Amino acid sequence: MLTFAFQGTSGAADFVGPDSCKGCHPEAYEAWMQSKHARAENSLSEQQQKDGRCVSCHSPDQATQTMASVTCETCHGGGQYYSPEYVMKDSELARLVGLVDPSERQCRSCHDASSPSLRPFDFKESLKAIDHWSAERARRAGRADASTTSSTAPPPASAKK
Ligand code: HEC
Ligand code: HEC
Ligand code: HEC
Ligand code: HEC
Repeated sequence: MLTFAFQGTSGAADFVGPDSCKGCHPEAYEAWMQSKHARAENSLSEQQQKDGRCVSCHSPDQATQTMASVTCETCHGGGQYYSPEYVMKDSELARLVGLVDPSERQCRSCHDASSPSLRPFDFKESLKAIDHWSAERARRAGRADASTTSSTAPPPASAKK
């Protein structure tokens, strides 16, 4: 496992794409899909999609990771090494191999004075607008209750159906 961790920290931040997160984080995925981040590239014309001055915020990982728009991994870091389930369940290890806790500073790298917002960026308010964790946490809490009666909790994807 240590070898694995070392590979992760020394390698490039390789992206696996939002569809790879979907199976285990269905609520987060759905909420993100409804957000403007998921469609940030679509606000640009074909011409602008090739313009680095626009892409830097609307589709920042396009050149290096061929990922359009603002994806899970733009905020949480490239998922190749942290997305295997046994890593995800170990918060410390996950962070060691690339999982990022998105910070206000990170938001402000795009939501700055040059972005076309009518109001200055309010971190707390903006967080509420992109909430994709409350439903996840509610489900997890429910699962914790359920697991007191059954030791084999169903995987998230099938639990939703
Ligand atoms: C194989 C299933 C699986 C995949 C794939 C997966 N996750 Fe997770 N993730 C988990 C589990 C399990 C947890 C631990 C919490 C829980 O029990 O729901 C977790 C936790 C997290 C957390 C919270 C970590 C913490 O310690 O606070 C974030 C953020 C996260 N995942 C993001 C992602 C992103 C982004 C992707 C895609 C790049 C992804 N996950 C892919 C299963 C997965
Ligand atoms: C890589 C750049 C980038 C980062 C990082 C980023 N955003 Fe965004 N965000 C955008 C872009 C671009 C849009 C506009 C998308 C569009 O409509 O084309 C946007 C839109 C939004 C909106 C929607 C605004 C509306 O009118 O509905 C909210 C809310 C938001 N972001 C919150 C956040 C928060 C909170 C963070 C940090 C946790 C964050 N963003 C990080 C680029 C970014
Ligand atoms: C510094 C980061 C940044 C850069 C660079 C940037 N944008 Fe944006 N853009 C944003 C953010 C953030 C928003 C969302 C503002 C909000 O509603 O809070 C946005 C919103 C937009 C919207 C409105 C989308 C909507 O839903 O109404 C358009 C159109 C747009 N940008 C086009 C462009 C074009 C064209 C360029 C290049 C000339 C560009 N942007 C460069 C950050 C940026
Ligand atoms: C604009 C940045 C941004 C994007 C895009 C984004 N997230 Fe998040 N995510 C956050 C922030 C910020 C938090 C922490 C919110 C808090 O704790 O208040 C978070 C929290 C989470 C959590 C909950 C962790 C926990 O402790 O319960 C999961 C799971 C997660 N995100 C997965 C995803 C997945 C999957 C995607 C894509 C489908 C995604 N995120 C896209 C910024 C982002």
